[in-house]
Amino acid sequence: MPRVSRRTENLGTENAFVVLAEVNELVRQGKDIISFCIGQPDFHTPANIQDAAVRAVREGRHGYTPSAGIVELREAAARYMGAMRGLAIRPEDVVIGGGAKPFIAYTILSTTDYGVGDEVIYPNPGFPIYESQIVANGAVPVPLHLREARNFAFDPAELEAKITKKTRLVILNSPQNPTGGILARNDLEAIAAILRRHPEVWIYADEIYSRLCYEGSFASIASLPGMLERTIISDGASKTWAMTGWRIGFASNPILAPQFVRWVTNTDSCASHVSQWAAVEAINGPQDAAEKMRDSFLARRDLIVGLLNKVPGTFCKTPGGAFYAWPNVTEACRMVGAADSEEFRKRLLNEAGVAVLADIHFGARVPGEGQHIRFSYAASKTALEQGVARMAEFIRGNQRRVA
Ligand SMILES: Cc1ncc(COP(=O)(O)O)c(C=O)c1O
Repeated sequence: MPRVSRRTENLGTENAFVVLAEVNELVRQGKDIISFCIGQPDFHTPANIQDAAVRAVREGRHGYTPSAGIVELREAAARYMGAMRGLAIRPEDVVIGGGAKPFIAYTILSTTDYGVGDEVIYPNPGFPIYESQIVANGAVPVPLHLREARNFAFDPAELEAKITKKTRLVILNSPQNPTGGILARNDLEAIAAILRRHPEVWIYADEIYSRLCYEGSFASIASLPGMLERTIISDGASKTWAMTGWRIGFASNPILAPQFVRWVTNTDSCASHVSQWAAVEAINGPQDAAEKMRDSFLARRDLIVGLLNKVPGTFCKTPGGAFYAWPNVTEACRMVGAADSEEFRKRLLNEAGVAVLADIHFGARVPGEGQHIRFSYAASKTALEQGVARMAEFIRGNQRRVA
C-alpha cells in the first residue's frame, strides 16, 4: 500500500469538530444534549445579505473571480478594516479568502521555511489551527501562555523572553478564542515597543472577533507606530454578520498581499463569487442586524458569567470579547473526582448532557493555571440557563457521592 505522509499523519485538528461529531452521535441515539461546543453565531445571516447573494446568482455572478477577490469587495474591506483601526488601508493590499482561516496557513507559508528551525510564537491556549499549521509547515511552535490573573492576556515580558534570532512570526489574537480575553491598548503598546526592537519579525493579528469587543473600543496592534507594514491584519464576515458557512475572510498587508494571491491561486483559485457579493452588502449595507447580534452576545455574556459564578467549585472571569466563557473548574474537578478538565468534560457530556470543550483542545494546559472548560455562549437564553443548571446539579450530585 502507498503510505500517508508523516506530515499528514501528524496533522492536528480543531477538536470542536471532533466533539461535535460525538454530540451528534449522542443526539442521534435520542440523548438530550445542550451544546456549547461550536464557535458560531446562532443567528440567520441578515436578510439584506441573503438577498444580495440571490441577486448575484440571478445576475450570473458565479464564475471564477480574480484570486485576490472582486474589486468591489477589496475596496469595501479596505475601507472597513481601515475605519475600524484608524488606518488608511489600500484595496490593493487586501486579499479575499475562503474564510479568515486560510490566511493562517498562507502567513506561516509566506514567512517561514520548512525544517530550518524558524520559530513562530502563538497564544496558548489558542485557536488550535495556529499550532497545527506551524508544525505541518515545518516551523517550530513556541507557545506564549495566557494568564488568568491578567484576564487572559499574556505578560509582554514573557513575549520578549521568547523572541530569539530564529523568530519569524508572532501570532496575536484579540478578542481571543477560547478565553474571550482582549489585548488592551496598554498591552498592545508594550508589545509594539518590544517588537520595534525586533524589526525582522512579522505579526499576524487575528482580529476575526473585532466587532465583538465589549470592554472599551477595539484596538489593533497595526494602529501603533511602525506596525502596519509588518502586520498581517486578518478579519472576515463569519462572526460579525453570522456568515460562517459563506466562507469569506479578508487579510491585508502591503508586502504579503501579492504572495497571498499566489497562495490562493495555488489552492482555492478564489473565494466563492456569490459569497463575495454577499460580503459587499454585509460591509456596505445597514449595520443594525450586526449591532443587534453584538448586543445579544453581550447580554448573554453577562448572563452566563453570572450563572457560572454561582456553580460550586467554579469561577469565571468576565471575558472582554468574542462569545466564549472560560471558567476555571479546578475545584469542581476535585469535587466530582475528575482527574482533569477533559475527564470532567466527558462526564458532563455523558452524565449531564452538557457539551463543552476542555482546555486541552486549545493546546497543552498552562502549568500553574488550573483546569478550564470552554462554553461558546452563542446559544439561547434557555439553553444557557438549563445548561449551567445541569452542570451545577452534576457537581452537587457527584459531590455527595464522593463525600
Ligand atoms: C481565532 C479564530 N481565527 C480564525 C477563525 C476562522 O474564521 P473563518 O470562519 O473566517 O475561517 C476562527 C473561527 O472559529 C477563530 O476562532
